[in-house]
Amino acid sequence: MARPSGQSLKIFQDKDSLARGAALLFIESFEEAVREKGFFSVVLSGGATPLRLYELLASKEYRSAVQWGLAHFFWGDERCVPPDSPESNFNAANQSLLSKIEIPPENIHRIKGELPPMAAAKSAEDELVSFFHLGAGVPPPFDLVLLGLGSDGHTLSLFPGTQGLEEKERLVIPNHVPKLDAWRVTLTFSAIEKAKKTVFLVSGEEKAAAMKEVFEGKDLPAARVRAKEVLWLADSEAAVLVSD
Ligand code: 6PG
Repeated sequence: MARPSGQSLKIFQDKDSLARGAALLFIESFEEAVREKGFFSVVLSGGATPLRLYELLASKEYRSAVQWGLAHFFWGDERCVPPDSPESNFNAANQSLLSKIEIPPENIHRIKGELPPMAAAKSAEDELVSFFHLGAGVPPPFDLVLLGLGSDGHTLSLFPGTQGLEEKERLVIPNHVPKLDAWRVTLTFSAIEKAKKTVFLVSGEEKAAAMKEVFEGKDLPAARVRAKEVLWLADSEAAVLVSD
């Protein structure tokens, strides 16, 4: 099975070893960025898959490997809910990681899901432009982007058949998702195309078919992700239909 061109795949036995592999990659990415420019910018993905990674990074075993004051956290997408909602991607990362480490509040660049979708997207885009001093139409040079994969092949909150897939100019947009009957706020493909390293974290047999379709070249949202380097980290259940 051919994998998407220029992308690599690493398969882990189970969810825990996947999370450990992702933690080591996170730390390496942090160290490289701080060596090069003195700070690290990472885009967190939402959903359940990355939570074990976030918990590991907050654990005694890994926490001291990162100087958290040099790390800046962004989000790939957010639900249109308050930051303390159980649905909030910020809330999930806050509970599992951010509330357990010493990190200045100004390093946390959450998408304000409590605002109306367009206002939340504008605010998040303005924050990217301001933080990275971006010129018009220039994507942010994130050091690390973490992405999930939906069983329908979505990533970020770019779901099949939604308007957001076609956005070429803006970095952050509101995106209505008919299948969820809900608005989301999401980074666009353009926003992550200059990322130094983009990592899909995929676990569970329910993702196997979507991974296979992406690797076969089917035009699913996850297959449209482009970046300098795209890595797939998957557990054996999710990767059962694709070769290593
Ligand atoms: C979200 C995510 C979404 C997620 C996938 C996988 O807001 O839900 O950003 O893109 O990464 O849906 O979710 P799971 O990890 O929960 O399977």
